[in-house]
Amino acid sequence: MTIEINGRKFRVLIPSSEISQKVVELGKKITEDYEGKEIVIICVLKGGLIFASDLIREIDVNTEIDFIRVSSYGNGMEAGEIELITDISTPLKDKHILLLEDLIDTGATLDYIIKEIVSKEPASIKNCTLVRKNKKNQIPIEIDYVGFEIEDNFIVGYGTDYAEQGRNLTDIYVIKD
Ligand code: PRP
Repeated sequence: MTIEINGRKFRVLIPSSEISQKVVELGKKITEDYEGKEIVIICVLKGGLIFASDLIREIDVNTEIDFIRVSSYGNGMEAGEIELITDISTPLKDKHILLLEDLIDTGATLDYIIKEIVSKEPASIKNCTLVRKNKKNQIPIEIDYVGFEIEDNFIVGYGTDYAEQGRNLTDIYVIKD
């Protein structure tokens, strides 16, 4: 199916059924890995909202939830400077942190956030992204849990946006033109 957002055409890349399966799989793995521990899950807003809300319900260990909001894309398709918009309010010292991202593109957002969190002296930090782009010159960051690896094309849906539109799409779409 093709859709149009702001005059650009997109086609389905990852259908919602595959996303749901992957979320269950990731939730199981995270539950096993953190058995007996408490974690602080940090959702990276805005894009991580949908993924986090689905995934946290598949994680069966004690969790606190908090949010961080940074911006890297401005209002289009090009990456820009990282700006901290909303900081985490939960004390993170000596806690086990699991960062939830919707997308790793250049890696600049995650790199910035990891540095912010490290400065708060947690016991551990792991990260989980639903989608990782295979991109040249991506900042090399070890990702603990990856849902899907995709080519370096612009995507929208399931939390990710094009000029703030399309976050509510249940499938993940990729640009056609
Ligand atoms: C998008 C996406 C990731 C980030 C990935 O967020 O949700 O957080 O870009 O890109 P990077 O790896 O190149 O840093 P964005 O900054 O657009 O903010 P949003 O989540 O509010 O849409």
